[in-house]
Amino acid sequence: MENILEVRNLRVWDLNSDKVLIANNSFDLRRSSCLAIVGESGSGKSITCRSIMRLNGSSLRQSGEILFKGENLTTLSEKKMRRKRGRKLCMILQNGMSAFDPSCVIGVHLKETLAEHFDCDWKKNEIEEKMKLAMESVMLKNPIEIMNKYPHQLSGGMLQRIMIALAIVLEPDIIIADEPTTALDTVSQFEVVEQFIQLRKKMGCSMIFISHDLGVVRKIADEVLVMKDGEIVERGPTEAIFLKPEHKYTKYLVSTRLALSENFKKLMRGETIVAES
Ligand SMILES: Nc1ncnc2c1ncn2[C@@H]1O[C@H](COP(=O)(O)OP(=O)(O)OP(=O)(O)O)[C@@H](O)[C@H]1O
Ligand SMILES: [Mg+2]
Repeated sequence: MENILEVRNLRVWDLNSDKVLIANNSFDLRRSSCLAIVGESGSGKSITCRSIMRLNGSSLRQSGEILFKGENLTTLSEKKMRRKRGRKLCMILQNGMSAFDPSCVIGVHLKETLAEHFDCDWKKNEIEEKMKLAMESVMLKNPIEIMNKYPHQLSGGMLQRIMIALAIVLEPDIIIADEPTTALDTVSQFEVVEQFIQLRKKMGCSMIFISHDLGVVRKIADEVLVMKDGEIVERGPTEAIFLKPEHKYTKYLVSTRLALSENFKKLMRGETIVAES
């Protein structure tokens, strides 16, 4: 299978302290597949994703190549890079709230985002209709009502589903989801993961999925990268990582983290659990 994204010798360091945050990492994302990145807090998962999007803060520097469909993103101008973001590479973050402008209603934010990425001659009504359908497809009832609400009036799970609906309309080639379910309670987590799985089925898009929840990872990912202290310590097909972890750290992660996702597994088996408040 062809690679849609190739990361070559990615190195990221902090200019202020000269600390190396990502050592020298190379990995591939295959077209239409889902790659999970797991690893303890501070291991460099988010920085890796932000490096791909070129969204690291100005105090961080990076070297190496990021090849998207063979094109090296690191040499693009900021203007060209901006055109890739959203439309080609879309990032969904942990906290839906931070992705939205708190001072305007959801609908305004969505319209602005969509207008930025689609040609002006795309009919306005058509975009709105698409967005409405996408929202319905991620089980958001009453899209019109939701569009008239402010972010703080919606739950975390709803905001994540709006982000997924937006991705459905934008049809990016790659979705990078950085712990998209971590801030949610177990029930919403289950629903949002289900929407991610549907999204992949529907659009065949490629995905990088970061999660602390190995139950979620096992369900959604084709391949897994295990990171520790800015390095990739193990990689392989998902089942191999879970059934036959080789690195000491992966063994530790698999044994401890699976215990945490018991509730999730119960939900997947259709058992009912009491929602956390
Ligand atoms: N802007 C920054 N400047 C300097 N150091 C940073 C910056 N952002 C992150 N770091 C450091 O880089 C390392 C990796 O951070 P990163 O956010 O990628 O971890 P992570 O694996 O995503 O962790 P978590 O699971 O908690 O989200 C950490 O040691 C962090 O303190
Ligand atoms: Mg992170």
